[in-house]
Amino acid sequence: MVEIVQKIKDEFELAFSQVKDKASLMNLKSEYVGKSGKIGLILKSLKDADVETKQQVGKDSNLLKGEVEQMITEKIKSFELEEINKNLEKKKIDISLRSSLQDKGLSSAGFHPVSAIQREIEDIFVSMGFDILDGPHIEDDYHNFEALNIPANHPARDMQDTFWFKDMKHLLRTHTSSIQVRGMESKQPPFKFVGPGKVFRCEATDASHEMVFHQLEGMMVGENISVANLIYFMKTLLSEIFKKETNVRLRPGFFPFVEPGFELDIECLICGGKGCSVCKQSGWVELLPCGMVHPNVLKYGNIDTSKYNGFAFGLGLDRLVMMRYGIDDIRNLHSGDLRFVSQFAEF
Ligand code: PHE
Repeated sequence: MVEIVQKIKDEFELAFSQVKDKASLMNLKSEYVGKSGKIGLILKSLKDADVETKQQVGKDSNLLKGEVEQMITEKIKSFELEEINKNLEKKKIDISLRSSLQDKGLSSAGFHPVSAIQREIEDIFVSMGFDILDGPHIEDDYHNFEALNIPANHPARDMQDTFWFKDMKHLLRTHTSSIQVRGMESKQPPFKFVGPGKVFRCEATDASHEMVFHQLEGMMVGENISVANLIYFMKTLLSEIFKKETNVRLRPGFFPFVEPGFELDIECLICGGKGCSVCKQSGWVELLPCGMVHPNVLKYGNIDTSKYNGFAFGLGLDRLVMMRYGIDDIRNLHSGDLRFVSQFAEF
């Protein structure tokens, strides 16, 4: 290596070894390999030298340029890594910070008890092979009534006080059974799914009635489905939810979209069956209307009724939450009162 190149190299190495941060490294970079950097100027300074020396110096300085650039790039990387590590150290997430948040008067968020129970029940059904479907809150007459075997002027429409839109064609769904219709439109039998969500009814509120509440619809369609299958799934569900034996009774129930139809009641867990405002002093709470899907409903869903049948149910989520936590007034659930909901934040 020609002397002059060696000299610049030594000079650079000394300066490089003393660099302590990225900024001075960048200065060093422009000083040596920048546009009018020292290495670029070496050749120019040899105007009068012979061709051979010029060639040698050109080669050497190019080599040096490459080396210097590589050393600088590597050093930059190591500075950056150091910086990242320092930041990580500083910004470490302390997962035990929750209590200090509360010290500062801040509170952490949690699921509303209805959302929490909905998720839990979804998990139970998913583990039994059910899909989860969604449907719109604003429905049309066909999906909420007609395809469920409730034609216009059918007295069963009075069972569900409906919020109609001005066009009298659209409504806020009165039950999640509309998801049954949508499920049959999108699936080929055999299938089983649940469809959770808000439902709306224009009725007076009291301790056990709200205008907006939550249901979880279920539907299973296949070959040779029987009431025994229905009871099996409902019992499995209830024992998973309540984690204990729950007394149930099955009564005949009327819904135009099931035949036979049932009301599955559970013994009131609030009063233990003695009678209270939630169970209207009867000791029993209506929890699970259900039944075998009416053939007309299957026909609306384009399902071959000579081959397939099925069951359906509509679980009331708000009542379930009330039973589980001993809440005696459904209006608390929608009060928006943080003192109420914060009792259920579970992490
Ligand atoms: N949709 C009915 C209701 O809201 C409940 C139901 C669902 C009944 C499925 C039977 C089968 O009251």
